[in-house]
Amino acid sequence: MKRTLVICKPDAVERGLVGEILGRLERKGLRLVAAELRTIDPATAARHYAEHYGKPFYDGLIEFITGSPSFLVVADGPEDAWKVVRTLMGPTNPAEAPPGTIRGDFGLALTENLVHGSDSADSARREIELFFPSLA
Ligand code: RTP
Ligand code: MG
Repeated sequence: MKRTLVICKPDAVERGLVGEILGRLERKGLRLVAAELRTIDPATAARHYAEHYGKPFYDGLIEFITGSPSFLVVADGPEDAWKVVRTLMGPTNPAEAPPGTIRGDFGLALTENLVHGSDSADSARREIELFFPSLA
C-alpha cells in the first residue's frame, strides 16, 4: 500500500497548524491525493479506534476526536507512505517526541497529539476505505 491516511486532529485544526503539517508532508515529497475538513462522527471514530476499545483513555479519545472538525488527508509516496508519515509525526507522547517531529515541535499532551497516521500497510488500507470509500 503506497498510500496512507493522515488525520490532522481537532487540536491541530483549532491551533491553525494544518498548513504546517501538510507543508511538512509535501516538503518531504509525499503527494496529497484527497483532503477534507470533516467532523468525525462517533460511529466512524469507534471503527477507526476499535483496537483501543475498553482502554482507560478510550472514552476521552473518542470525545476528543469527534469534538470539532479534523482535517483528513490521503497521502501517496513511492512506497509505504505510512512509514514516512509515522517518522515525521514522532512518538505518541509529545513530551517524549524529539524536536524536528510534528509532535515534538508542537505538542505537549498525550491525547491532543495533533496528528494520526496509519501504523501499517493493512491499517492504511482499512482506514482509507473507512474515511474515503471512493478511493478504495
Ligand atoms: P494515532 O493512532 O492517533 O495515530 O496515535 P498512535 O498510533 O501514535 O498511538 P495509539 O497507541 O494508536 O493511540 C491512539 C491515540 O490515543 C491517545 N492515547 N492516549 N492517555 C493515554 O495513555 C493514551 N494513549 C494513547 C493518543 O491520542 C493516541 O494518539
Ligand atoms: Mg494508532
